[in-house]
Amino acid sequence: MKKLISLVMVVALMLISVAVCAETVIGVTISKYEDTFLTEMRNAMYAKAEELGVKLDVTDAKADQTTQNNNIDLFLTKGYPSLAVNMQDRSAAQIVIDKAMKDNTPVVFFNREPFAEVMSMWDKVYYVGAKAEDSGTMQGVAMAQYWDATPAADKNGDGVIQYVMLTGEPGHQDAELRTEYSIKYLTDNGYKVEKLAQDTAMWDRVKGQDKMATILSAHGDTIEAVFANNDDMALGAIEALKAQGYFTGDKYVPVFGVDATEVGKDAIIEGTMLATSLNDAKNQAYATIELAALLAKGEEPTAENFEYEITDGNYIWIPYFSVDATNVDQF
Ligand code: GAL
Ligand code: CA
Repeated sequence: MKKLISLVMVVALMLISVAVCAETVIGVTISKYEDTFLTEMRNAMYAKAEELGVKLDVTDAKADQTTQNNNIDLFLTKGYPSLAVNMQDRSAAQIVIDKAMKDNTPVVFFNREPFAEVMSMWDKVYYVGAKAEDSGTMQGVAMAQYWDATPAADKNGDGVIQYVMLTGEPGHQDAELRTEYSIKYLTDNGYKVEKLAQDTAMWDRVKGQDKMATILSAHGDTIEAVFANNDDMALGAIEALKAQGYFTGDKYVPVFGVDATEVGKDAIIEGTMLATSLNDAKNQAYATIELAALLAKGEEPTAENFEYEITDGNYIWIPYFSVDATNVDQF
């Protein structure tokens, strides 16, 4: 009996060690854990990895590129077969590609897009993201609809939209393009606009609130629209507006966000955020992990083994969807 038990234990240990050796681990580095949208992405990544039976080693770069480079060095030292990278500073992607190429380890970048000339340096480099222009345009469309339907929206009756812009991190493609395309839609379609204030709140809710409070003390009730590059900053702005009596009685200003995070959707339902767009954390996360898992096995993604479309050789674009009170329940 004793012999049998020890034999069973030996066999079990052997099986466990085989399983451990065969386990695929993908190295994932996130620019900053303390970010609502990236947290939703991270959770979806774990779910997908579990479904695919791969492991993730996820690290927080804590908004520091040096920390992130060290994370990546460690992933490569550990011999992980593929990496998923959310650059802290997207202009530093070349360093990452150089390291990965030397090690022949494929890289899937996500959410922070490296420049095109860097992306084309190696064929085992991919990008999963969303076209930021579209989310900007969707804010412009939502504002135009509101303006056309609401005569009182033009508070001073001058026919011009007096607006405030809260921007995300400087240099981030989503911050730059959303800022540009929200207003571009309006001006392209004959709306007159006047920028009262623009400031960065670094994607952050508390900063959004602080910046909006300052802007409100300078411009008060002359503001006719607030565009924020993401939901968190929009929610911060809403807090500052609430503190000045907005969203009670008929004191109102339309606030626009991007992401449709859980808290963002709550604000749409509450009636404080007028519109946002779905930045599809789930599908961006799923595409990133599915692709990284394929590459880890040395496979090329094709229409047969990969469910997302790859354009221009190495880009996977996940679409945005406009979200407001009329359709929020579908998201
Ligand atoms: C954007 C998103 C922001 C923030 C940022 C981080 O796509 O809209 O809320 O998460 O990515 O890189
Ligand atoms: Ca006006």
